[in-house]
Amino acid sequence: MLIELKNIVKNYDNGGVITKVLRGINLSVDEGEFVAIMGPSGSGKSTLMHTIGFLDRPTTGTYLFEDKNTENFNDDELAKIRNSHIGFVFQSFNLLPRTSVLDNVMLPLLYSSVRANHENRARKALEAVGLGERLSYMSNQISGGQKQRVAIARALVCDPKVIFADEPTGNLDSKSGATVMNILENLNKEGRTIILVTHDKQVALHANRIVTIRDGEIVEDVLVPASERVFSKAVAEEEDESR
Ligand SMILES: Nc1ncnc2c1ncn2[C@@H]1O[C@H](COP(=O)(O)OP(=O)(O)O)[C@@H](O)[C@H]1O
Ligand SMILES: [Mg+2]
Repeated sequence: MLIELKNIVKNYDNGGVITKVLRGINLSVDEGEFVAIMGPSGSGKSTLMHTIGFLDRPTTGTYLFEDKNTENFNDDELAKIRNSHIGFVFQSFNLLPRTSVLDNVMLPLLYSSVRANHENRARKALEAVGLGERLSYMSNQISGGQKQRVAIARALVCDPKVIFADEPTGNLDSKSGATVMNILENLNKEGRTIILVTHDKQVALHANRIVTIRDGEIVEDVLVPASERVFSKAVAEEEDESR
């Protein structure tokens, strides 16, 4: 099993005020799955994604990654897993502004164990998302859809096993959103595990499994029937002026 969460609890403690955000999550994800995590705003989706992605530690519970218990891993060991096995895509893109598309995508390689051919790898990742012609554009001079594709290239550049995407289409128009979903689908077809957070059922139906969370608990975990599954077409190059 790639990911196995056993009774994961996450509380936030702000000056003695305890917020219980995850209340005993049990979840297993196999390599190659495409899982959508759904639920209303505030239900704990992002917290769950941050916990599975080692951006944050659970308060209690057991997390096995590739069958290894990560409980006693120190911060360096967690950072190593994160950098070599996990790519993140966020709703707000999180690119460095006034920095070229190519440099944004090369950045994670600086923190990785990859020593050679950084530029070549970044170019290939950008070609894979259809942005091979935009390498020297500044990240603030491209459209929202293009920004999100740069973010996907950045997530891909270290060749991760899993990609976490938190509301990746939340700030995009429907055409750019379709292109982003098409890229995620293709990455999954190539065998990469995708964990997608969304509150939009139409977006979730791109996945092969939908996990619904409410008030920090999984209330439903179902496979998407093939007949209901949605597949996107890539939309030809978007217009450039939308920012
Ligand atoms: N650092 C934090 N401190 C305290 N409460 C937090 C913190 N981060 C998130 N929360 C709370 O946890 C709950 C779940 O948040 P989140 O995981 O972002 O939900 P979702 O992504 O489903 O909208 C919310 O009530 C939020 O206010
Ligand atoms: Mg969220």
